[in-house]
Amino acid sequence: MSTPLFSSAFTLGILGGGQLGKMMLYTTRKWDIGTFVMDKTEDAPAFQGCDVFFEGDIMDYEAVMEFGQQVDILTIEIENINVQALQDLEDQGIAVSPSARVLNLIRNKARQKSFYQENGIPTASFEILQQPDLNTNREFPFIWKSAEGGYDGKGVKVIRSQEDLADLPQQECIYEDMIDFELELAVIVARNTSGEIKTYPVVEMEFHPEANQVEYVICPARIDDAIADKARAIALQVSEAYEHVGLLAVELFLTKDGDILVNEVAPRPHNSGHYTIEGSVTDQFEQHVRCVLDLPLGNTDSTIGAVMVNLVGDEHHTGNVIYDGMNDILQLSGVTPHIYGKAQTRPFRKMGHVTVVDQDINAARKRAELVKNTIKVVAQ
Ligand SMILES: Nc1ncnc2c1ncn2[C@@H]1O[C@H](COP(=O)(O)OP(=O)(O)OP(=O)(O)O)[C@@H](O)[C@H]1O
Ligand SMILES: [Mg+2]
Repeated sequence: MSTPLFSSAFTLGILGGGQLGKMMLYTTRKWDIGTFVMDKTEDAPAFQGCDVFFEGDIMDYEAVMEFGQQVDILTIEIENINVQALQDLEDQGIAVSPSARVLNLIRNKARQKSFYQENGIPTASFEILQQPDLNTNREFPFIWKSAEGGYDGKGVKVIRSQEDLADLPQQECIYEDMIDFELELAVIVARNTSGEIKTYPVVEMEFHPEANQVEYVICPARIDDAIADKARAIALQVSEAYEHVGLLAVELFLTKDGDILVNEVAPRPHNSGHYTIEGSVTDQFEQHVRCVLDLPLGNTDSTIGAVMVNLVGDEHHTGNVIYDGMNDILQLSGVTPHIYGKAQTRPFRKMGHVTVVDQDINAARKRAELVKNTIKVVAQ
């Protein structure tokens, strides 16, 4: 018989000890679920909140095997992981969520896009190349994406002319139509092992123009109900096609014609769901834990309008971090900062976020901008 969940013998394992892992631990602490975390170094944000921290490389086969064999259920907080080890752990009877199958489908963008095509899920037109083709007859501008290894917009580039193709890495990639979108939206879908499924409300993502990183997340998105319903329905379709367990964050484009296209997914808690800690009945991290432990899902409704602003390292600062302006933002109503606990700041590194709640979403958006302009993440 498997170990009872709410018992001193049960152990959840999380691969990766970043801020997403740290915020999952708020729930495992609340429910006193024994949790082991593995990451490369002990200065990982999730170091303090777990029961046992393992120093190890989550890309290393042996390290992941050894870690996984010590837990009852294994989950992840980042998808760059040794998937072969996850597959072998599953074969040994360890519950791994999301599964190696789903991670394999998602972690390579060429495979991910092909999956949408095969399953009738709307997505921007694309072609797969083993390496960049300098003599393409594709119309400029278009989007280049590295098939593997990109994150936070680093594996994505707008190609405006043939010169832009010159410095691309010689590796598998996709060329994709550039979508002149109206808005970028996201929907988080939660699915537990038994197949119970729920979606969170549609959020709007506003991007930083230079860093290609999300700057504000706004919930609810300021769109018509019909478009919101369509976005949630497509996110459900994606989730059902993958049959994933855990959270699946579905990033979407709303085109100028009112169509919804799937950009990409992340099989874990996501930046677009951080607002749920203050803005929802059940926050996304608790929901992820419920999914992987196969508990009943929590209510995904919002309790109030919420805007999240990312706190990223100032572009001119590298070194030991200080957060300037915390007192000023803490005086504002409905403002909750989260600091991830990374010792070193770097330009545009995700160091924390702030949630601003208000019954009036436009007022929250305005206050979020004030927060953004008041707090600075700099080096000592
Ligand atoms: N086909 C496209 N047309 C227009 N803009 C695009 C397209 N694909 C991507 N982008 C822009 O680039 C951003 C990053 O792309 P994508 O989400 O695929 O990359 P990523 O590296 O996985 O980023 P992240 O980790 O931040 O989600 C998108 O959010 C969007 O702003
Ligand atoms: Mg993205």
